[in-house]
Amino acid sequence: MGERYLVTGANGCIGAWTVKLLLDEGCEVVSFDLGADEHRHRLINAGQLPDIEWRQGDITNAADVADVVAGADRIIHLAALQVPFCRDDPPRGAEVNVKGTVNVFEAALAHDVPHLVQASSIAVYGTNNDYSTAVVPVDAPRLPRTLYGVYKTACEDLARIYWRDHGLSSAALRPHTVHGAGRDQGMTSQPTVAVEHAANGQSYTVDYGGTLGFQYAPDIARAFIEASRRPTEAAPAFNLPADTISVRNFLDVVTDITGVELFCGDVGLDLVDEGAADSWTEWVREWSTTPLADAIRESAEIFSNRN
Ligand SMILES: NC(=O)c1ccc[n+]([C@@H]2O[C@H](COP(=O)([O-])OP(=O)(O)OC[C@H]3O[C@@H](n4cnc5c(N)ncnc54)[C@H](O)[C@@H]3O)[C@@H](O)[C@H]2O)c1
Repeated sequence: MGERYLVTGANGCIGAWTVKLLLDEGCEVVSFDLGADEHRHRLINAGQLPDIEWRQGDITNAADVADVVAGADRIIHLAALQVPFCRDDPPRGAEVNVKGTVNVFEAALAHDVPHLVQASSIAVYGTNNDYSTAVVPVDAPRLPRTLYGVYKTACEDLARIYWRDHGLSSAALRPHTVHGAGRDQGMTSQPTVAVEHAANGQSYTVDYGGTLGFQYAPDIARAFIEASRRPTEAAPAFNLPADTISVRNFLDVVTDITGVELFCGDVGLDLVDEGAADSWTEWVREWSTTPLADAIRESAEIFSNRN
């Protein structure tokens, strides 16, 4: 057995792909998630459940978190509530996203885990109107438009304090619009829902338009795994490479593959189009991503095989 990886929020979209890739490498994996909802694992593993240790618990419960962190060599912290859930229940959003993250950092300190990676988000920025360049620099002012973005900003900042006060190493990754099998909740999940509909011969309308940074879920999972293995200084946050295209263009690629006509709205979301990812590629040195059409073809295949 290799190193023992703890993945919080492992039943989510990025979590399920992270577990799958770690198992492909022969790593030992512990899943920590609130629910026992396994549907994303089954979807991406041809109906099977991965052979890992399953721990059910609430990230807001410090004792649960300390318990599961004990014995972990690497921590990939993904558990969070997405934009709509934070909007609907701000106190719970703060509890899960901020207090939950504090619990993970405290447990890492208590159990001498030297480094961890946490999920931040492109939502820490404002919109393109807030910045003078089309591609927003990684260290540009964070001007979030949602409570979710405010919570993610707080988590990036608390990581800096854990580095300063305790020398605890961590990195924060800021995905933009993750797509792929298993992406079925959160504000930017609709383009994937469109792929699922099209794979089953049904049309679909994405509520919004504009430009987004599309990132394939297995590529993002690979980024989290890579970052979990790279102790670093001063708790940096990274934007990640993306296919920055309009929702309309994304849907056109889906139509080319499936032959199903798809629709979208005109108004974009309150997100920047693109965050500069050069600090990421410098840090990891070699980085490649799945071409968009290949990614969509894979997703469509997974969705159509399920039925
Ligand atoms: N998917 C994206 O496009 C995207 C973009 C930017 C940032 N992120 C961030 O990446 C991370 C993973 O995203 P995802 O798309 O896999 O999210 P997801 O919503 O699919 O999964 C989140 C998981 O966290 C778990 N969770 C929620 N509350 C919990 C609690 N109290 N205790 C334990 N587990 C709890 C949920 O059960 C779920 O399995 C999140 O932190 C998210 O904010 C995702």
